[in-house]
Amino acid sequence: MKADVLLGLQWGDEGKGKVVDVLTPRYDVVARFQGGPNAGHTLEFEGKKYVLRSIPSGVFQNGNLNVIGSGVVLDPVLFAEEAKALEASGVNLKEVLKIAKKAHLILPTHRLLDAANESAKGKAKIGTTGKGIGPTYTDKISRNGLRLGDTLNDFESRYKVARERHLGMLKSMGAEVDMEVLEKNEKAFMDAIDYIKGYEIIDSEHMLNKLLDGGQSILCEGAQGTLLDVDFGSYPFVTSSNTVCAGACTGLGVAPRRIGEVFGIFKAYCTRVGSGPFPTELFDQTGQTLRDLGHEYGAVTGRERRCGWIDLVALRYAIMINGVTQLIMMKSDVLDGFDTIKACVAYEINGEITRDFPYTVDDDQIKPVYAELPGWKTDMTSISDESRLPENFKAYIEFLEHELDTPISILSVGPDRQQTIVREKAVLPSVK
Ligand code: GDP
Ligand code: IMO
Ligand code: MG
Repeated sequence: MKADVLLGLQWGDEGKGKVVDVLTPRYDVVARFQGGPNAGHTLEFEGKKYVLRSIPSGVFQNGNLNVIGSGVVLDPVLFAEEAKALEASGVNLKEVLKIAKKAHLILPTHRLLDAANESAKGKAKIGTTGKGIGPTYTDKISRNGLRLGDTLNDFESRYKVARERHLGMLKSMGAEVDMEVLEKNEKAFMDAIDYIKGYEIIDSEHMLNKLLDGGQSILCEGAQGTLLDVDFGSYPFVTSSNTVCAGACTGLGVAPRRIGEVFGIFKAYCTRVGSGPFPTELFDQTGQTLRDLGHEYGAVTGRERRCGWIDLVALRYAIMINGVTQLIMMKSDVLDGFDTIKACVAYEINGEITRDFPYTVDDDQIKPVYAELPGWKTDMTSISDESRLPENFKAYIEFLEHELDTPISILSVGPDRQQTIVREKAVLPSVK
């Protein structure tokens, strides 16, 4: 059996959580492969809204196993908060969720380091979510990290070593540390570790491979988006993990040959939170209209999301890097009232036209070349059958499929689980 991957093709917040929830009944297992509580994955059904940060989006459908993989960085305190809220809302989380021993831990001092790094960068700051993501992955790569499995054995002394190292770093950066607050946070951290021990902490690479061998299907859930990937995104304005398809292999211990379908998810327009280039960003009323209609405010930090037209240059690049086999288009309904819709088909850089995403993405140098298509001026939010889609919308998706050379299998026309159109051409496992 193969593992399918679902990941973001833009700068995050494409709607991954919603679609993972919709697809979960077709899979046995849902596994998060990277990122941490910098993610905010929103799900809506039966009139309720949930935001998941570290917990996979498959926990609301019956009978699935959910795994937090070893590529994820886990903040025990935020995890415990999220998990307890889910338990309170009736999810039997301890039954359905298992956590990788090799997942690295976000320590209270990692968050302080995140803040200190950002203030040291001044104007060049990345605009991180402040969740300690960068420093935790830095410790992992520099071989100083602590993993969830370490909490099972002599953890206090390992923790002290990491803490002293971090305090030394903070001191050398001139960052003030309020020791009283830190100690309070450390107490909460240790309590949360005790809470996590109530979950099954597993060798997830062994378990997932055995499940595949036994014929079970896995949906790998990405966080962030391709343009935030540490290797292929708009560096340095990226997150610190591999958000691309290869990240599912390294983050779960699943070999490349076991990857099946790669679902690339994108919005019908584009957004970004935090700093960094964004060639199709709109600073005018149209940008504000997208923000208002799309409720483009961060699920984690509440920050305004920057909004702009869809960027097909960036999307083609993301499709290439990930080997996307099927596309999923979200938030089509946000464009329902527009007279015309623009799509960036190429960049003009120093007078030259390119369709390839360049090494330097500099908003001052890039002039987006737009195609303009007629809008459909139809409320699509209650359409569930593809044959009822307005003609101009059909023309728009045909145009995108042609430009991107990849089929669009699923269309989302609203935040609710039900507001999802699975097209006839979709290649999906059947519902269990
Ligand atoms: P994720 O991080 O990729 O899971 O995406 P987020 O949850 O951060 O952001 C997506 C936002 O769009 C959430 O508020 C969703 O409820 C909402 N959403 C998802 N799909 C649609 C859609 O098709 N239409 C509209 N209007 N909203 C959507
Ligand atoms: P989901 O999974 C959107 C952005 C931050 C910042 C940069 C680095 O919900 O799509 P970090 O805290 O990771 O060091 O911040 O990445 N960022 C996201 N933007 N959606 C996300 O996750 C994000 N996770 C991180 O805003 O620009
Ligand atoms: Mg999000």
